[in-house]
Amino acid sequence: MTKNKYLIFSGSSNLQLAKQIVGNLKKKLGQSSLGTFSDGEIRFQSWENVRGADVFIIQSFTKDINFHIMELLLMCDAFKRASARRITAVIPYYAYARQDRKDRPRVPISAKLIADLLETSGFSRILAIDLHANQIQGFFNIPVDNLMALPIFISHFKKMKLKDLVIVSPDAGGVERARIFSQKLKAGLAIADKRRAEANVAEIMHIIGDVKDKNTIIVDDIVDTAGTMTETVKALKKNGAKKIYAACTHGILSGKALKKLADSPIEKLFITDTIPLQEELAASKKIEVLSVADLFSQAICSINKETSVSKLFK
Ligand code: R5P
Repeated sequence: MTKNKYLIFSGSSNLQLAKQIVGNLKKKLGQSSLGTFSDGEIRFQSWENVRGADVFIIQSFTKDINFHIMELLLMCDAFKRASARRITAVIPYYAYARQDRKDRPRVPISAKLIADLLETSGFSRILAIDLHANQIQGFFNIPVDNLMALPIFISHFKKMKLKDLVIVSPDAGGVERARIFSQKLKAGLAIADKRRAEANVAEIMHIIGDVKDKNTIIVDDIVDTAGTMTETVKALKKNGAKKIYAACTHGILSGKALKKLADSPIEKLFITDTIPLQEELAASKKIEVLSVADLFSQAICSINKETSVSKLFK
């Protein structure tokens, strides 16, 4: 097999995105059998010869998260034992990333454990997008390409031609991302002072910055229960903001998130397809999905050809 020959496989978490990624590359997903034994153990077998090949496995850590992680690890083990030359984990949504430090006694650093498991299973490199914290790259001893959905959102917002615009970070951790948005869109910057009394409960104390009579865009990496988002919207309205939009890469939208968004005065939330769409989500008028498929296709192509991926960040 020639050095640059590559094969792309997918786990079961986000087949729709995987098919789009391979379609853009004028390829088909690698043939394999993926299922479970009657006791729930995962079984996998590749029908393709991967000896000496550059193998990519696409798997998002979406509901059912733990199952999908295990699926990815087992697929990698199979390819390692079948003598693949290089195996890349393509992870559109890397779960457990929010547990990335020991911020209370006796808690795990889950993001690091997942990194260790991926390396142990045999991955040679990781391709992700908008990891919750850039530092997660340092949890790996193998190369990590962390793409950004930012160029996709920016080109969309440029077309909307919003005037008197302020970009809002919903917490201190997101200021860097919000600052890049504000520079690219030539907009102002504001920050919400968020506290978490307990897990999954967000409270916005103040808005730092002027949003009175401004159109605003809240930017975040994840919208999970939508507590952060809807509380930020509430605080922005209280501070006199005009229209409120939001851009979040990973639309987990768990629990009552959709209802909270429907009841909130937000104009529209833009998310990407790193996590597959639930049916009710597709019907929601307040949510619009922008695809990251093309970005991943280009990154896979660059990794395989060993050309720079930095153009994808522009
Ligand atoms: C937190 O640091 C993240 O950037 C998001 O703000 C958070 O995960 C959103 O969670 P939720 O939608 O449950 O408030």
